[in-house]
Formats: sequence, structure tokens, C-alpha cells
Amino acid sequence: MQSIPVITIDGPSGTGKGTIAHLLAAELGWHVLDSGALYRIIGLEAEQRGIPADDSAGLCRLASAVEIQFGTRFRGSICVDGIEKSADLRTEAAGALASKVAANPAVRHALLARQHAFRQPPGLVADGRDMGTVVFPDAGCKIFLTASAEVRAQRRYNQLKDKDVGVSLPSLFRDIQERDERDSTRAVSPLKPARDALLIDTAPLSVLQVLTAVRTHVARTLALESSATPPPASQP
Ligand code: C5P
Repeated sequence: MQSIPVITIDGPSGTGKGTIAHLLAAELGWHVLDSGALYRIIGLEAEQRGIPADDSAGLCRLASAVEIQFGTRFRGSICVDGIEKSADLRTEAAGALASKVAANPAVRHALLARQHAFRQPPGLVADGRDMGTVVFPDAGCKIFLTASAEVRAQRRYNQLKDKDVGVSLPSLFRDIQERDERDSTRAVSPLKPARDALLIDTAPLSVLQVLTAVRTHVARTLALESSATPPPASQP
């Protein structure tokens, strides 16, 4: 298990982690873990099933028992107990519910085994908040994407404004700040870069530029390039 390579991509919401993780995984032919989706599922299902946020035992039962199936496409289907829920799970409301249950140490512990199970050959690209620090601390390549809350709110606004008439830039900015605050100050697995992670400020960069920086780091750390380069011919 430990020999299966892992690339971790952590950072706050709106830094493009999901996009980069999926593009990279597709290029490498590796698996991908969207760990935020797991917390969104627990947050949303708990609310729909009437499990209170302080009912750790109930939340853990849910986290261990709920059946989850991810589609193979980026932002594709997510079935929870056989029901397609991807649209509900991608709302801002589900993000806020996720961030609340994610502060519960018992929930985080209950989701660990599920996350480790994504580590399958030939490799895994894992996207989240604590992939490099807690879930896969032995990962060979760790990346932490950043951008100011203003930049992230503006990106989210551009994505949502044509779909959601109720969306406003100030409220998105406020939500992002609240979520950042909760995610970085919680006692367990707070949002922070691993000591050995490469930090990339995505604010001035296009998706392609971020991907290029990530590829360079991946090639350096995992020595993927060297396996593609034939060794020099030996001298007679
Ligand atoms: O990445 P995404 O926005 O889907 O994550 C939703 C929430 O789930 C985050 O705000 C965070 O509170 C929580 N989360 C976490 N640890 C992860 C991934 C997500 O605490 N590895």
C-alpha cells in the first residue's frame, strides 16, 4: 500500500485544487480523491436525516455506513445510497454544512479509512485540506495552493453568477472568510500547508500556469521524468 505513490493538493476553497487534481490525475492515469465531497456528503445527509451537529456517534455511524459512488468525470455524478446528489452537494450551503461537521474529530477519524482506500495502483492525486498533513503524510509530492479571499470570492462569483440569480459577491466573500476561519482554527487537522509542501499562489496565474508549476514539482519530486528518459548509452 505504502509504495503506491500519492500527490497531495491542499488549500482553501476556490484555489482551483479540484480542477488541478483532476487534470493531473487524467494526465498521469491515476485515481483521484475529492475529500471535500466526503465532508459535503456527511454535512448534507446529516441535515436531511435530522442528525444534530453535536451527535458525534450518529455522525460517525453515517460516515461509516453511507454508500458513496463517484462518477469518473470531473464534477461528474456522486451517488449517495444510490441517489444522484452532485448538484445539491456542490452548493455553497453544502460547503458550509461540510465545514461544520469537518470540525468534529470523530467524523474526521471515521472518514480516514474511506480516504485511505482511494490509494490504489498506479497512484493517487488527493485533494483537500489535510491530505499532506494527516491523511497521506508519507506522500512523495505535496502541493498547497493559495489565493486571497477576494480573488477566490471573485472566481466563485464568476462561476455562479449566470446560474444562481441570488448570488452576490459580498455574501460569497463573507462565506469564504467564515469557512477559512473555521477550517484554519479548528483543533483537529486545521487547514495548513505540510512542512514539505510547495506553496503556489494561484492569484496571478491561469489554470494552465498552475498546472505547469505543479507538473514541474511532480516531475522533480516523484522522478517521473527520469523513468521516461532512457539512460545514456554506455561507452565502448
Ligand atoms: O473542498 P470543499 O470545498 O469541497 O470542502 C468542503 C469543506 O469540507 C471544507 O470547507 C472543509 O471544512 C472540509 N474539508 C476538510 N478536510 C478535507 C476536505 C474538506 O475539512 N480534507
